[in-house]
Amino acid sequence: MAVEKTLVLVKPDGVRRGLVGEVISRFERKGLKIRALKMLWMSREQAEEFYSVHRDKPFFKDLVEFITSGPIVAMVLEGDSAIEVVRLMIGATDGRKAQPGTIRGDYALSIQENVVHASDSRESFEREFRVVFREEEVVPEY
Ligand code: CMP
Repeated sequence: MAVEKTLVLVKPDGVRRGLVGEVISRFERKGLKIRALKMLWMSREQAEEFYSVHRDKPFFKDLVEFITSGPIVAMVLEGDSAIEVVRLMIGATDGRKAQPGTIRGDYALSIQENVVHASDSRESFEREFRVVFREEEVVPEY
């Protein structure tokens, strides 16, 4: 088991619906540590880089449009196997198929407006982190 960092976004739909506290509290109660946290409004350039692996997908334009449609909350979470644990906690991409008990399973009924994003690998975390945070925004280990 390895202590890992992962990046989570509460997407514009989650912020608009007042779900920021609910999302953060689930991760805190699980025992994940918040190492960085902020609210931001992504630029088109940031969004295109953040989602660059999806550049050739038919939904890419809509994805960029949506993620830049309002403010988001970004956080770096740390814990044992954090990448896998957080992916389990957010559930399947399509809110209609996500298991009840997961964040998307409980709060989403759409594939696009699915409340949260989380890194799917260490490589994704590295890219996503660079798009959203500066190293100085991560608090020292505590
Ligand atoms: P996310 O985990 O942020 O990663 C990429 C996002 O693309 C995904 O959540 C969905 O919101 C979105 N996405 C994935 N597949 C589709 C699709 N078929 N149609 C629209 N959006 C999609």
